[in-house]
Amino acid sequence: DANMQWGGRFAGGPSQIMQAINASIGFDKAMWKQDIAGSLAHAAMLAHTGIISAEDEAAIREGLTAIGKDIAAGHFEFSEALEDIHMNIEARLSERIGEPGKRLHTARSRNDQVATDFRLWTRDALDGLDQQVASLMRALARRAEDHASDPMPGFTHLQTAQPVTFGHHLMAYVEMLARDRGRLADTRKRLNECPLGSAALAGTSFPIDREMTARTLGFDRPTANSLDSVSDRDFALEYLSALSIMAMHLSRLAEEIVIWCSSPFSFIRLSDAFTTGSSIMPQKRNPDAAELVRAKTGRITGSLVSLLTVMKGLPLAYAKDMQEDKEPVFAATDAAALSLAACDGMVRDMTANTAQMRALAGSGFSTATDIADWLVRVLKVPFRTAHHVTGRLVAKAEEKGVDLADLSLAEMQAEEPGITDDIYSVLTVEASIASRTSEGGTAGSNVQREARRWLATLDAE
Ligand code: ARG
Repeated sequence: DANMQWGGRFAGGPSQIMQAINASIGFDKAMWKQDIAGSLAHAAMLAHTGIISAEDEAAIREGLTAIGKDIAAGHFEFSEALEDIHMNIEARLSERIGEPGKRLHTARSRNDQVATDFRLWTRDALDGLDQQVASLMRALARRAEDHASDPMPGFTHLQTAQPVTFGHHLMAYVEMLARDRGRLADTRKRLNECPLGSAALAGTSFPIDREMTARTLGFDRPTANSLDSVSDRDFALEYLSALSIMAMHLSRLAEEIVIWCSSPFSFIRLSDAFTTGSSIMPQKRNPDAAELVRAKTGRITGSLVSLLTVMKGLPLAYAKDMQEDKEPVFAATDAAALSLAACDGMVRDMTANTAQMRALAGSGFSTATDIADWLVRVLKVPFRTAHHVTGRLVAKAEEKGVDLADLSLAEMQAEEPGITDDIYSVLTVEASIASRTSEGGTAGSNVQREARRWLATLDAE
């Protein structure tokens, strides 16, 4: 059969293979709500400007509403021969209401239609993920408040560096996620312009009102250039970029959770709800959710690379390559939503092994910097010199197999005669942490203030 949408020009129908490579209905049916919303706005505008009659618009509205109900109820049969969601719905509409349905596509092309639907879909997905990120930030800040002053070893190079608090560590992720939300908000601003009315690529000769459709669909304004409107997928790329950076953050958190749960560390315990067992080793509690969050980053980054690769060689304006824009965005959205939900669950349910973290926070000469700082502050020794003196004290302690606090005053004074008993007051983990009161530092009072500030900010939204 000749295609029902462009049968005039064609004597024969497509081959099976043509149909299979051409069809997008398998995935773009996910945009049915957006497609109906776009068509309702378009029809209302066509009637308002006198391009179609009020009766036709009423028939279109009733027809589209009924089709929406059918799809929602699972009573709509999608046809691959009709290629995509746009033609599936339009064909069904004409079947249902006859001639008025055939007027709907006046002053419109699938090129501006799909660009509009896809922006609407991406905007909804973005808003949903943004709320999930906010929820994860809340979960992290609550746990940070609980553990504002609980010591843990801080690492650089995954080597014990200086004591920090568990709360401070968790709040670092709150800051990362806040930037992720900022990137999503930025993306949304540029996304929120309406391409509808650009038609195929050149605009239209009909006296359409693009302000009206833009406003009806919740866009800030119509896009400015019809060629750009139908060939631009920056909004999807920006969305995927923001998600890729966010996924990288979630993956780092997941990696830390894996490390923290490992038996040699034993910093935290995940709940049964977020742990799996082993089919052979009865003792195992595996952090599979965290590992999968780490792995799903690959799909999200991969989606960004896929779409960049699809877009980079396309001449203006629309090319069918652009039909391959949706699956990466859908896949990345699913992976991001699941990863956020899993992180949220793990963070809410985990229990911290504060005794173990406290014990390790003091190991590895983690307060060596505090000795150096004491020499600078009390004896006015230049920092670089103090660093050397402290290095010799660390070597001595290491040689004896003891902690810095176990060196006698005489042993200390052998390296720097000015040292007094007072130096022992800075050698505890608690003193080290409490002294880090500089802005953004790990002192418990700072951490508590930051956690409360974030919780208040998030509650005020
Ligand atoms: N299914 C197409 C897509 O998703 C719709 C636009 C088709 N436009 C065209 N000129 N063939 O991109």
